[in-house]
Amino acid sequence: MNIRNILNHKVQQAMLSASIPFEHRPLVAPSKKPGFGDYQANGAMGAAKAMKTNPRELAEKIVQRLELGGIAEKVEVAGPGFINIHLSPQWLNQQLGQAASDSRLAIAPVAEPSTAVLDYSSPNLAKEMHVGHLRSTIIGDAMALLLEFQGHRVIRQNHVGDWGTQFGMLIAELEEQLAENREANMALSDLEVFYQQAKRHFDEDPDFADKARDYVVRLQSGDPKVLQLWEEFRTVSLAHSQEIYQKLNVTLTPEDVRGESFYNDDLAPVVSELEEQGLAVEDQSAKVVFLEELADKEGNPSPMIIQKQGGGYLYATTDLAALRYRTGTLGGDRLMYFIDARQSLHMQQVFTLARKAGFVSGEVSLEHHAFGTMMGPDGKPFKTRSGGTVKLSDLLDEAAERAAALVREKNASLSTEETAEIGRKVGIGAVKYADLCKTRTNDYVFSWDSMLSFDGNTAPYLQYAYTRVRSIFRKAGVDPATLDQPLAIAEPEERALAIKLLQFSEALDQVARDAMPHLLCTYLYELASLYMRFYEACPVLKEGVAPEVRASRLQLCHLVARTLSQGLELLGIEVMEQM
Ligand code: ARG
Repeated sequence: MNIRNILNHKVQQAMLSASIPFEHRPLVAPSKKPGFGDYQANGAMGAAKAMKTNPRELAEKIVQRLELGGIAEKVEVAGPGFINIHLSPQWLNQQLGQAASDSRLAIAPVAEPSTAVLDYSSPNLAKEMHVGHLRSTIIGDAMALLLEFQGHRVIRQNHVGDWGTQFGMLIAELEEQLAENREANMALSDLEVFYQQAKRHFDEDPDFADKARDYVVRLQSGDPKVLQLWEEFRTVSLAHSQEIYQKLNVTLTPEDVRGESFYNDDLAPVVSELEEQGLAVEDQSAKVVFLEELADKEGNPSPMIIQKQGGGYLYATTDLAALRYRTGTLGGDRLMYFIDARQSLHMQQVFTLARKAGFVSGEVSLEHHAFGTMMGPDGKPFKTRSGGTVKLSDLLDEAAERAAALVREKNASLSTEETAEIGRKVGIGAVKYADLCKTRTNDYVFSWDSMLSFDGNTAPYLQYAYTRVRSIFRKAGVDPATLDQPLAIAEPEERALAIKLLQFSEALDQVARDAMPHLLCTYLYELASLYMRFYEACPVLKEGVAPEVRASRLQLCHLVARTLSQGLELLGIEVMEQM
């Protein structure tokens, strides 16, 4: 149930009945200030301006025709023509009761599910996965969980870089190391080190370099021996990534891997179709598409190479083939790409050309959800002290250790195992949340201190709020499943909390539409803060609290706990009973 949508719909009907053309929208939004109702419809002013009438009078006319049933207890016109809507406490009680008795918190699956294909994580297998892939993995996975919860069909695609010229060098190196009786697992235990070895070998030994080049050709033509080496390399590297997904509590599985190599057979057809359509032309013996749609200020079209001189294909060619596969074979109608903002031009070119060439129909939504860079404390892209790339696996271990130390400090009564387990959930949660709570498109500074703080908009704060609510039930000796008395909100703090609880689905809808998980973080943070205020103002277990008041407040507490844990779960973050 999305209150905002319901009100928008009702106000729109009233506007139509007041002869206001449909193009003027009701513009319903939660009110920003107390005293202005719970929701405000601001559409009357714009409509009045366009229709050249008095905005207050028009607002009055809308209100006269507004049929909200039992939803509102009061509707009034304020200022130059705002319509303030005060929700009725009975209606709020009833809605909360429905949420309380429903395993989905009364959030129905969407009526028209889409098939969303999400491209995220997508590391290059030639190297160790690094922090640059962290944001894509975390944001993409949260979106996958959220869209799934809403009832959409979600297809995850891990577009790993497992093809291209560097693999000639890597498998030639692997072959030599295997010949020295090393096992692939051992040789590739640190991909960064292995890559350096291969590169040095390539630069210093011309015979080896020749062999590497030969292997690229043989790999592309499907030579079984070379393919087998490549398979071996790929398997070990994928296992590295999978280990990180496990640590991160990310839902990607080996079945979601659809790497660049998968599209190899479709690259030549993509190029020839673009040529047949007259879109690709030969330019300095390469095949190039010039996109006027993306021309620069001087009017020079944006060049997009799809086949190199010598026949090699490019990143863009593969992306065109992948896009075709995702709409055509997978039936996706919403293609979502979670990739660094630095690849924006690339994505724009791919989307523009895919539309132009008819690889994708007009109804399919093509979305690049770009994100900024994760910065170190020095304000430069995150690196180790010595300037190397930080290995994700080390970073995640450090997060769990730091969090475990904090938990130990706070609660010495926990066993070593409990502390380690809670530390893992808090540490990983903190890393994920620190990323998710920032506006996706901005850069952000990675800071242990702020992400692990128990105050402010952090995972530990929300996880702690959850444990506090749960502890009330332990103290009261009440099983929340047995709560069945009706809710009866009365105090302003209860009312504010109630409305926030009922806005959960609004938050989810927004996140789903804009792929902006920080909106869900903000929502959860506000919910937890309103809960704290409620808890201070409205005693629950104190002696003298009437039984029906206590029951209603316990219901509110339980709804808060469930909403927090559901919300965090959709962000890929675990909760625990105590910390
Ligand atoms: N492997 C690429 C990189 O690490 C990211 C791939 C993103 N997905 C895509 N369809 N281009 O930069």
